[in-house]
Amino acid sequence: MSTTVNIGIVGLGRLGKRHAENLASRVPGAKLVAAVSPVETEREWAQAHLGLTSIYATLEELLAHPELDAVWLVTPTSLHAEQIETVLKSGKHVFCEKPLSLDLTTCDRVLALAQNHPAQVAMIGFMRRFDAGYSAAKSRLADGKLGTLYRIHCESHDPIDPDGFFVKFAPTSGGLFLDCCIHDIDLVRWMVDGAKPVKVFANGTRTQYPGLASCNDVDTASATVEFDNGVLASFFVSRTSYRGYEATMDLTGTEGALRVGRNLQAVPLIEESNQQQRINGLPDFFARFNDAFLIEAKAFVDAIQQGKPSPLTLEDAREAAKIAIAMRESLESGQPVTF
Ligand SMILES: NC(=O)c1ccc[n+]([C@@H]2O[C@H](COP(=O)([O-])OP(=O)(O)OC[C@H]3O[C@@H](n4cnc5c(N)ncnc54)[C@H](O)[C@@H]3O)[C@@H](O)[C@H]2O)c1
Repeated sequence: MSTTVNIGIVGLGRLGKRHAENLASRVPGAKLVAAVSPVETEREWAQAHLGLTSIYATLEELLAHPELDAVWLVTPTSLHAEQIETVLKSGKHVFCEKPLSLDLTTCDRVLALAQNHPAQVAMIGFMRRFDAGYSAAKSRLADGKLGTLYRIHCESHDPIDPDGFFVKFAPTSGGLFLDCCIHDIDLVRWMVDGAKPVKVFANGTRTQYPGLASCNDVDTASATVEFDNGVLASFFVSRTSYRGYEATMDLTGTEGALRVGRNLQAVPLIEESNQQQRINGLPDFFARFNDAFLIEAKAFVDAIQQGKPSPLTLEDAREAAKIAIAMRESLESGQPVTF
């Protein structure tokens, strides 16, 4: 393979366009050689904005591209597992946005297939691991600066959205835990470094988006996870923030504490008047994690170029999904879930 990693992107929606622009010019070692979308206007966008000539309607057409090394999937969650399998069978490396799948049987099927393709990098996009704040916290923990870690609290707040854009996707996104909280679940798993979850409890409420009732989802939720090394993790996740986008984590150990993601804006505030919204805080996850998306892409390219294992594995994605599914089950039953 050439030293440059030739990548084809699949999916040019809300997030896919951002990834495509990054891969086209901002990721050292990567070359965006092709793009796929079943939507004609998105293919036109790719031609106009990415300067590509190889633009296809299907993944299968992309896989016939003669110079392709890797495929970058930013497609609806319901397609992830099958498309990862298709790419692995074609012999290419694969990056896929989170989550791997909404059910564990499907996760296990993908993991089993991947075992037959050990030379190919397969990475799932939990980009928060590449954020400067979260990765500094991970280093401090590894250095023993906190003593023994025993408490983690995470919060993720999406700005309130008067249009309820995400309600449309809720039936296929997996809901608040699998779509949103799963980022914090992955980070907590990373911080506890191999400890196993033993018990999960979750609850939630639906206050701003009644449309979520049709798929039994909530717009605000909390959850706790107990780990077998004694760490107690708590999660608060909502799509109803009037303060703008926030993602934070507090870690407490026997000898110190860390806070990630605080005070990024002096006055995080959304003001609404005369049907107009003005956001003083961070408007969205792009603003918070712009650099993390770039570092994540570089980590994927580095793994391919240097023949290293994926920095974020299918197993990680499977274990995060396991916890998120347990949270959803606990929310629905009102009972704790024990592993
Ligand atoms: N890492 C993050 O923070 C983050 C943030 C947002 C979304 N996501 C994930 O990214 C994925 C995409 O989210 P989005 O908001 O961009 O969705 P979107 O609906 O805006 O975009 C989906 C894209 O997939 C394309 N597509 C649909 N069917 C296809 C098919 N059969 N073959 C090829 N392409 C197809 C669509 O044309 C569109 O371009 C989701 O899985 C979501 O969970 C991750």
